[in-house]
Amino acid sequence: MPDTSPIPVYLDCDTGVDDSLALAYLLASPAVDLVGVGTVSGNTSAAQAARNTLDLLDLAGHTRIPVALGSHDHLDHPYDGGAPHVHGENGIGEVDLPRAGAEIDPRTAVQLLIDLSHEYAGRLHVLAIGPMTNIAHALEADPSLPGRIAGVTAMGGAAMVPGNISPVAEANVYNDPQAAAALLAADWDVTLVPLDVTLEHTLSEQQRQQLLADERPFVHALGEIFDQYLDFYLPQYGERLSALHDPLAAVLAAGAFTPTIAPRVPVVVDTGTGPGRGQTIADLRGQRLGPRDHDGIRTRVVLAVDEPVSEHLVATILAA
Ligand code: BDR
Ligand code: CA
Repeated sequence: MPDTSPIPVYLDCDTGVDDSLALAYLLASPAVDLVGVGTVSGNTSAAQAARNTLDLLDLAGHTRIPVALGSHDHLDHPYDGGAPHVHGENGIGEVDLPRAGAEIDPRTAVQLLIDLSHEYAGRLHVLAIGPMTNIAHALEADPSLPGRIAGVTAMGGAAMVPGNISPVAEANVYNDPQAAAALLAADWDVTLVPLDVTLEHTLSEQQRQQLLADERPFVHALGEIFDQYLDFYLPQYGERLSALHDPLAAVLAAGAFTPTIAPRVPVVVDTGTGPGRGQTIADLRGQRLGPRDHDGIRTRVVLAVDEPVSEHLVATILAA
């Protein structure tokens, strides 16, 4: 009999506007059991991301999911102040959430991940939607970690499209290229969800209004949180739409859809300090006749998901 029990998921995030929607989806999806969250600096500081996560969980009525603080600084450089022009000064579009009663977990994000990997050995799924610093530290602290992880889904990189923080680099990878390289080099199954596909799936202003119209404070707040983010994307899309970077990764981690194109190919990260810093170089040679897996490669790069992702995402959250 196939195992239909919910997938235990450890979420590593830099909450974050789109991280917030990914979190909401994970809470709403019956396919997922969110068992812990670790935060990392990226869109905002790790501490602010933890504050945002605790407040969002509280507003959603989930007060028992541990939230642990992760790395403030990255492997080869200090935290640079985040992206207030994209995610707002507080990371969640300047929306003031009621302060949660729950406290941050006393463990570090690394310790939480390692503990959960024992508790859910062989079943735990890791979903990384921020810079991958905590994951790299966890791999260093416990090299046996991959053996207890069922799979990793990571939002990051740009395989065949331009970057979003430099001409060639995507933000999560650029913010800690060494950490992304460590995640990709470890001996586990990785689903990399790059800009190639996350920019193709969008949340519309109409869908934001659906969230806003919901009477539940948590869902209403999601609609508010996305207001500025749609302003940010206006010049790119020519209308009020938002890319669904982290939510798409969450939907794929939940197994809601099977990617249409996702070959297993080698991916290396440029960890240098030149113009290529943070570039994810995916070996997609010879793929003209369709996706072709390379022998022995455990990283699949998602290049297309021909499914109604935003409809599924919003419907799942509204139905929860
Ligand atoms: C990624 O960077 C962050 O700004 C988003 O939350 C997402 O994880 C997109 O490049
Ligand atoms: Ca993120």
